[in-house]
Amino acid sequence: MTATIIAIAQRKGGAGKTTLAAHLGVALAAMGNQVALIDTDPQASLSGWHRRRKARLGGGETGLAFAATTGWRAPGEIQRRACDYDILLVDSPASADSEVRRVIKSAGLVLIPVQPSPVDVWATLPTLEMAQRERVPALLALNRVPARASLTASMREELAHYNAGLAASSIGNRVALAAAFAEGWGITECAQGSLAAEEIAALATELLALLPSSARALPRHEGDAELDPALGKPKEAAGPPPNEISPSAEKARKRAGAILMAALDAMAAGKPTVPEDLPDDAETTTLIPLTSRSKST
Ligand SMILES: Nc1ncnc2c1ncn2[C@@H]1O[C@H](COP(=O)(O)OP(=O)(O)OP(=O)(O)O)[C@@H](O)[C@H]1O
Ligand SMILES: [Mg+2]
Repeated sequence: MTATIIAIAQRKGGAGKTTLAAHLGVALAAMGNQVALIDTDPQASLSGWHRRRKARLGGGETGLAFAATTGWRAPGEIQRRACDYDILLVDSPASADSEVRRVIKSAGLVLIPVQPSPVDVWATLPTLEMAQRERVPALLALNRVPARASLTASMREELAHYNAGLAASSIGNRVALAAAFAEGWGITECAQGSLAAEEIAALATELLALLPSSARALPRHEGDAELDPALGKPKEAAGPPPNEISPSAEKARKRAGAILMAALDAMAAGKPTVPEDLPDDAETTTLIPLTSRSKST
């Protein structure tokens, strides 16, 4: 097994890199993927989250693997772990350009959280450029989206002109995400059915649609008990888990994957990355895929 390595990067501090790493990691693991989280930020916030998680659930019971590594060691650690997992989610520091570049270089996809304000959107460009220089496709995801939508809509429009994918799912400004993080939980396990949990699950599903088929959107095992965080022990599953990806979701996943691969090939060949063919399965994969439209052209 070789993991898809997703670097979570954004030069602007406080965009939500670490928060998304933790919540997406838990969500992707619950979908049946072997997930490892790697903290490459010397601030070590993700390490703190994982420490709490371990203290609460027990060392072997956290549902995902974890490692912390910084500086020049990071790429080696990432590659070493890649053999053993489906997905590696790598949290990165806000600045430290050379270190972030090393992380991006080893990734198959860069997830860039961005808050919907002009300053945050503009501040995204250096990270995007870094991804492009390293020829790694990037997916922008709006985070901390306020309830009032007018600015968000124009920011979404602005981002659509950047040379990257733009996730259809966005994450609201949800205190529950911070609260769950502080306790070592993923929102999808401690607040199932909440808006925050649904948003994280939707973003996780979108990410999966872009990954090779080794990563899955299925429950871990048929009939698996879920962990009830409040009780710290397994509880009855709410209903029968779906056993199959729906044909339309599978079709969407394949199309999105094909677009991503075509974009990667084009980038490797030094060509502009214009997909002729946008995914039309809007319910699962309304990504705006890689495009050559850029602010500078
Ligand atoms: N969707 C959200 N809703 C509410 N609060 C959020 C959301 N995303 C992040 N936050 C909060 O914003 C702050 C910054 O988030 P986080 O630490 O994840 O950002 P970061 O990009 O990792 O920051 P740094 O660049 O310092 O590593 C935290 O207090 C976090 O709880
Ligand atoms: Mg962080």
